[in-house]
Amino acid sequence: MAETETIPFPQDRTCPYHPPTGYRTERQGQPVTPARLFDGRTVWLVTGHAEARALLVDPRLSADRENPAFPVFTERLASIASRRVELLGVDDPEHNTQRRMLIPSFTVKRTAALRPRIQETVDRQLDLMIEQGPPTDLVSAFALPVPSIVICALLGVPYADHEFFESKSRTLLRGPSAEDVEAARDALDDYFRTLIERKRADPGEGLLDELIALQLDTGAVDHEELIRLAVILLVAGHETTANMISLGTFTLLQHPDQLALMRASADLMPSAVEELLRFLSIADGMSRVATEDIEVGGVTIRSGDGVVLSTSVINRDEAAYPSPDELNLGRTSRNHVAFGFGIHQCLGQNLARAEMEIALRTLFDRLPGLRLAVPADAIPFKPGDTIQGMVELPVAW
Ligand code: HEM
Repeated sequence: MAETETIPFPQDRTCPYHPPTGYRTERQGQPVTPARLFDGRTVWLVTGHAEARALLVDPRLSADRENPAFPVFTERLASIASRRVELLGVDDPEHNTQRRMLIPSFTVKRTAALRPRIQETVDRQLDLMIEQGPPTDLVSAFALPVPSIVICALLGVPYADHEFFESKSRTLLRGPSAEDVEAARDALDDYFRTLIERKRADPGEGLLDELIALQLDTGAVDHEELIRLAVILLVAGHETTANMISLGTFTLLQHPDQLALMRASADLMPSAVEELLRFLSIADGMSRVATEDIEVGGVTIRSGDGVVLSTSVINRDEAAYPSPDELNLGRTSRNHVAFGFGIHQCLGQNLARAEMEIALRTLFDRLPGLRLAVPADAIPFKPGDTIQGMVELPVAW
């Protein structure tokens, strides 16, 4: 692969809701371009919308994280790079077997049945927050507990353990060191090893209990595979949505005209959530490795090359969305890739949409005077090598 013109990946955002300016190669007519990882390795960075959607359904790209050529973003993540990740890091046909086991719990219908529970959780967290009074950190008081409580109820994980698994999930995604990342992954595996044993002896209600009865006890999955599946469901199920709620709130507060539009019409919520997903693209860096040569966007990706897809730039492609850098809650943000695309497209997307819709609508309904408690540029947000969002969000009302 050419060594010229490589841009570093990942880069930090300079504004929490805009892509790093250094990624915007599609604007120079380069929808697929060489990029350089922390270890000096060159991979292909995909920023074009059409190219991304073509690649994400191409079976010549593998999601197998155990492949040594699979792109790794930071030194600290390299420590667990070769560890198996179920579902997200598995190719078909194995991926399809795992996905089919889980799909019934994440359908539109099953998610709709969870809405009263989500509303109750949102109301309770807001009651607590209001009782304590302003100022407060919206991340720890609201954005994180809501999806965390909901995924616990869905899986059958005791929420009483939330401090443990939230902090381990944070470490797994953000470090600080390679040893910490590895230890966090071990701790989460151990946690589920014990929980699954406990549930086997004393079954409860939840997806994990169902999987134990229907898949583990029948031999369809083995113990270690179920542990790894539980880890990915728990981590993906709370960290992502929490960041969308915190960054979504920050972004709406920075766009008062759009916030007013949203508050004026409850019917706008589904399209508002879709536009926020497109605009914020918090999972900004999906990775793959090519298993055959692929011609795309005027380049040839060779077998063994790493491929990195920047969802934030892909979702700002002018060819797909007019005035893409404008937040426009009334637009139809169809075909965005904030949840990915193809066989690995987010399993929890219906749940995430319902959580965002209920959380954001109820937050602004109940606290019409919600505002930032400190200047916007003093609020820390997450670095470019992890899921994007606010580290904390001091608010008052
Ligand atoms: C707004 C919040 C969320 C965002 C932005 C998001 C984003 C994504 C993206 C981009 C992918 C595809 C990654 C790839 O192809 O490499 C993905 C996959 C996945 N997500 Fe989400 N996600 C969110 C919420 C959730 C929730 C609530 C769950 C609940 C369990 C979840 C579970 C998963 C799982 C299991 C996969 C892997 C699916 C597969 O490989 O078949 N996500 N998500």
